[in-house]
Amino acid sequence: MRDLEKIKGSRIYGRRRGPVLSATRQARLDKWLPKIEITLPEPGSTPALTPAEDYFPVPMKDYWLEIGFGKGEHLAAQAGLHPDIGMIGCEPFLNGVSGLVDLVEGQELANVRIFTDDARLLMDSLPDNSLGRTFILFPDPWPKARHHKRRMVSAGNIAALARLLKDGAELRIATDHMEYCRWIMAHMLRNDDFIWLCNQPQDWQRRPDDWPQSRYEIKSLAQGRHSSYLRFIRRHRRH
Ligand SMILES: C[S@@+](CC[C@H](N)C(=O)[O-])C[C@H]1O[C@@H](n2cnc3c(N)ncnc32)[C@H](O)[C@@H]1O
Repeated sequence: MRDLEKIKGSRIYGRRRGPVLSATRQARLDKWLPKIEITLPEPGSTPALTPAEDYFPVPMKDYWLEIGFGKGEHLAAQAGLHPDIGMIGCEPFLNGVSGLVDLVEGQELANVRIFTDDARLLMDSLPDNSLGRTFILFPDPWPKARHHKRRMVSAGNIAALARLLKDGAELRIATDHMEYCRWIMAHMLRNDDFIWLCNQPQDWQRRPDDWPQSRYEIKSLAQGRHSSYLRFIRRHRRH
C-alpha cells in the first residue's frame, strides 16, 4: 500500500475552486453534499480498509468508480442508466462537485457517492477486488515534461487499479491529447494485469454507445479535436 502522507504531499490535481458559486448553488451544495459525501476513516483506525458497500445505505450489485468526474455529466448518466450500481465519484474541484450535486438532486439519483479530494486517497482506502468498473475520462494531460509526475495515469495508479478491479472488470480511459494517449498506452501495455480491448481502429476511435459524453468531450469535439476511447480488462488472477 502507498504512503498516505506521500500522496498528500504530492498534489497532482489542478485548482480546487473556480468562480464563486451562486447563492442557490451554494445552498444546494450545503444541503445535499453532506448526505452523499464520502469521509475516509482516520489514518490508523481499524479496519484499515473500508469496503465500498459501507458508503451506501443498502448493498448494491456492484461498485464503479469515476476519477476526476469534472461537472459529473458522465457519472450522473451512468448512475441513471444503472440504478443497481453504486457509483463513486472523486473530484477535488468544488465547482465540479456542485455540478454533480445539482444533477444528483435534480434526477433524484440515490446511487451516487462523492469523494471531494484526491482519488488516490480513496483508492488506497478500498480493499482488493472492490470495483466492477473504473472511468478516467479526459484526465489533465500535464503536457510539460516537468509536470508528467502529476499525470493520473502512472505506473503506481495503474497498479492500484489492478488491485482494486475485479477479475474481468473494465477500465475506461479517454483522452484527446495525442502525446498523453501514447503515454497511457505505453503504461498500460507495460502492465501485465490488463488486456487492451481492441481488434480494429474503430474500437478506440469511436465512443461506444454505453459511454455517455462528458462535458470536456463535447467541448473538445466542438473545437475539432478527436478523442481516443481506451478500454482495458482486468486479467483474471491465477488463484
Ligand atoms: C480535464 S478535466 C475532465 C473532467 C471530466 N472527466 C470530463 O471529461 O468532463 C480533469 C478532471 O480531473 C480532476 N482531477 C485531477 N486530479 C485528480 C485527482 N487526483 N483525483 C480526482 N480528480 C482529479 C480535475 O479536478 C478535473 O476536474
